[in-house]
Amino acid sequence: MLILSDQDIAKLLTMEEAIIAVEQAFKEYANETVDMPDRSTIMIEKHNGSISLMPSYLQTAQVQATKIISIYPDNPRKNLPTTIAWIIVIDPETGMIKAFMDGTYVTAMRTGAITGVAAKYLARKDAKTATVFGAGVQARTQVWAIKTVRDIEQVNVYDPIKSTARKFVSDMSKKLGIEVIQKESAKEAVYGSDIIITATTSSKPVVKREWMDNKTHVSAIGAFYPNYRELDTATIAESKVVVDDLDAVMREAGDILIPLKEGEITRDHIYAELKDLVSGEKSGRLPGDGLTVFKTVGVAIQDASVAKMVLNKIE
Ligand SMILES: NC(=O)c1ccc[n+]([C@@H]2O[C@H](COP(=O)([O-])OP(=O)(O)OC[C@H]3O[C@@H](n4cnc5c(N)ncnc54)[C@H](O)[C@@H]3O)[C@@H](O)[C@H]2O)c1
Repeated sequence: MLILSDQDIAKLLTMEEAIIAVEQAFKEYANETVDMPDRSTIMIEKHNGSISLMPSYLQTAQVQATKIISIYPDNPRKNLPTTIAWIIVIDPETGMIKAFMDGTYVTAMRTGAITGVAAKYLARKDAKTATVFGAGVQARTQVWAIKTVRDIEQVNVYDPIKSTARKFVSDMSKKLGIEVIQKESAKEAVYGSDIIITATTSSKPVVKREWMDNKTHVSAIGAFYPNYRELDTATIAESKVVVDDLDAVMREAGDILIPLKEGEITRDHIYAELKDLVSGEKSGRLPGDGLTVFKTVGVAIQDASVAKMVLNKIE
């Protein structure tokens, strides 16, 4: 049995590979060769945290993995990460445990990768500028993935914690080799941006529809509770909306559930699930399209497929 740390995995896995693994997972999902029970979450309200169990089985890739993930937004104040995870990979043939993997890095990579896959289908091909809200752990792999699928020349970042944003600028300009600029206000950060990513712990909208150009693509990855959202109602109502998984989004995504509750959209407003785009069942961005939104709450097949990619590189 293998035991892999985040550091081991970081040496093995590239963003290109994570994007391939996540796209492959959604192709399998489209082919209906995936078993994925609903995520089961315990809210630890006393400590403003949640712990979720995320199992899945990909029949074609022959991988079964279960992730345990904690989300504790107050942790950075204790010098601990917000998102912490472990993944157990089991051999589907024998039920034997193949690997215990630190899941924190895999989570950041697969969450970046799903934004990359969605952007391949929904963002303009000539996108040059990206803005990220939040300068935390997920924000880093988000911009890395966007840079992998589009020829991005400039990244803007906005985080109310200025020192976090400064560190992001220093680290990510070196990593991506492009200009990364810290913006003083949310509105200023969005100006002229082709792609906008929200990767925050905020429960309220961080960006407004009226600040965005018509041809912008938005990827909202941060919120996954019914009463949390990062986008305002107008952004959702005026966009072509694609989600990672309709059932999961209908259970968890305040970004969609709040506009539904307000009566500003109906369920039919959601144009597609990601599997419809990767399978070719539905088209991505079309010439007449304006604002596009991809909303992801994160699903277990992303973890299983990326874990398998890591193990393939070792075996
Ligand atoms: N969709 C998924 O699959 C997925 C996967 C992992 C984590 N997440 C979610 O992503 C979010 C971020 O996770 P993380 O691990 O990067 O946390 P983190 O604590 O490392 O980073 C979050 C950052 O957001 C910033 N922020 C808070 N409010 C903001 C605002 N209004 N505008 C701009 N920035 C703001 C914080 O200051 C912080 O720096 C969490 O809510 C987590 O639940 C989603």
